[in-house]
Amino acid sequence: MIERMQQLLGELEEFSATTPEVLEAYRNKMLSKKGVIAELFNEFKSVDPALRRETGKMLNELKEKAIAKIAHAKDLLDQALEAQKGSDVPDLSMPADFAPLGARHPISIVRNRINGIFEKIGFVISDGPEMEDDWHNFSALNFPLEHPARDMQDTFFIGKNPDLALRTHTSSVQVRVMESQKPPIRTISPGRVFRNEAISARAHCIFHQVEGLYIDKGVSFADMRQTLLYFAREMFGENTEIRLRPSFFPFTEPSAEMDVSCSICGGKGCNLCKYTGWIEIMGCGMVDPSVLENCGIDSKIYSGFAFGMGIERITMLTYQIKDLRMFFENDLRFLQQFRAAT
Ligand code: DAH
Repeated sequence: MIERMQQLLGELEEFSATTPEVLEAYRNKMLSKKGVIAELFNEFKSVDPALRRETGKMLNELKEKAIAKIAHAKDLLDQALEAQKGSDVPDLSMPADFAPLGARHPISIVRNRINGIFEKIGFVISDGPEMEDDWHNFSALNFPLEHPARDMQDTFFIGKNPDLALRTHTSSVQVRVMESQKPPIRTISPGRVFRNEAISARAHCIFHQVEGLYIDKGVSFADMRQTLLYFAREMFGENTEIRLRPSFFPFTEPSAEMDVSCSICGGKGCNLCKYTGWIEIMGCGMVDPSVLENCGIDSKIYSGFAFGMGIERITMLTYQIKDLRMFFENDLRFLQQFRAAT
């Protein structure tokens, strides 16, 4: 019996539980009513009286150690289980999370296309601030002091400062480029512009323009026409025709408005072109010599052309979007239709 108890003590020493089931089985084996210790107590009744003292002492010791050891093993197991809860090992066989793909905004798609068309023929992109002073937005561009565009009705001024406003067009970037670079200049400037307009299907107080500028020796109106024809055909298709109508802008002389032949009816007349066969898409002209001089460029040596177009308008024509407000409403049903486009 003593040998058996020694063996059990050794086992007890070694024991550790990795799962609640192992612990419970061991507890059963040792301490239950039919367990080994209960059995030993039974056996003890028939132990030789000479050995009783020693055997009894050892048996009680074994029982106490078993109770203590099993309680300790339970504590350790509980702690381990608690720690595991927080750091669940990931199941690497699970299918990957489905990350929904967004779509580029149609204004960005068309802006990128316009940029790309001009970049192909050597134009570089330039940028300017959305908050402008009077000089860059108006004065350098020949807007007379009493010009209605300067009026509070059209321009968002910043606070009470009459010299600081949100730019009303991207032509302000022309001025910045000419002031800081020497010709030859070939640049386009896409960006946001702001006008105090009532919001409707055709107008918004925030919209986007692309400005173009080409300055070099001997640049002519014919160069402008050819450049814009190239743009129109890249943008709207190779059969597109253009038409230049006389117009007025303070910063160009002569000035023109450019129409493209209607891409829907091919010029025959339809709803989109209001049965004229033509759609107006931009303003353009030869940079007024006094604008060149305002920006430190010698107008006796250099000449150039400029043009400006609204990106919303081109986008509406490209995708036949009827209401300009759609661009600003962030309606996913609208935006997701452009998923396939880049
Ligand atoms: N800045 C003009 C506008 O906002 C557009 C424009 C017209 C730009 C003619 C030009 C240009 O560069 O030559 O209506």
